[in-house]
Amino acid sequence: MIKKETMLIKFVEQIALDTIEMVVENAYISKTAIPGQFLHVAVDGQTLRRPISIADINREKETITLLFKIVGSGTAKLATLKPGMSMDVLGPSGNGFQIVDKEPSTILLIGGGIGVPPLYYLGKTLAEKNKEIISILGFQTEKSVFYEEKFSSLGRTYIVTNDGSYGETGFVTDVIEKAGQFDRYYSCGPVPMLKAITAKLVDKPGMISLEERMGCGVGACMACVIPTDSNGGYKKICSDGPVFHAQEVSL
Ligand code: FES
Repeated sequence: MIKKETMLIKFVEQIALDTIEMVVENAYISKTAIPGQFLHVAVDGQTLRRPISIADINREKETITLLFKIVGSGTAKLATLKPGMSMDVLGPSGNGFQIVDKEPSTILLIGGGIGVPPLYYLGKTLAEKNKEIISILGFQTEKSVFYEEKFSSLGRTYIVTNDGSYGETGFVTDVIEKAGQFDRYYSCGPVPMLKAITAKLVDKPGMISLEERMGCGVGACMACVIPTDSNGGYKKICSDGPVFHAQEVSL
C-alpha cells in the first residue's frame, strides 16, 4: 500500500556522470517494496515529485538505495540534499517485477542507463532464489558506467557503451547473442531500447519496466498513459506499471 513517509538521508555520492546514489532509512518502505517499484520523491515542498527507482534494499538496516540521474532542476535539487536531512516520499509505488519461483532457470537482465538500478535489486532477489543471472548493461560512454562490480557479483556481466569507450561497442541488443541461452528476461531503460529488445526477443517470456516522466504518480492525472496492443485501451505507467509483460503494451 502506498503511504506518505519521511526518509532520513544516510549517504549521498556521485557514482558516475550526473548519477547520484542516495541511501535513505525508512522502516515501512524497506519492509514492503519489491523490485521494480519506485518512490515518488518530493523535490520542492510536497507538490513537485519525481519518480525515483529503488536500486537496493537492506531489510536489516531498514535502508533503501536510490539512484537517479540529474536531468533537470528537480533532480538537481535532489542531488543537493545531504546526510542528516530528510525527504518526503510516496511509496512503494507501482507494480513491480513478477518472479517465477518454480523450476531453476537462467535469467537475462538488460538495462540501459538509468534503467539499470531497479535491475540490481531484482537480480539480487533472483540470485537469492538460486536463479542463474546474466546481465547486459548499456551506457552512453565510460564515464556513465556504474554498478559493474555489483552485477558481476551476481553473474556474468556485459557492459556496452554506445561510443565504444568501455566494454563492448554499440547497443545492448548487439550483445544478446553473446549472452547465450536463457529462459526469461527482464529489462528497463529508454523506450527505443525496450522496443528493440521486445522485437528481438519476441518468442521469449519477459517483463519490461518503462521509464516515464510522471505527474501525480498515483493513477489520477493520465499524464503517463501508454496504449496496449490487445484491445486498443490504455494503461497507466505509474499505477498499472511501471513493469509490464513484454508484449502487453505498444511501445
Ligand atoms: Fe498521473 Fe500516472 S502520473 S496517472
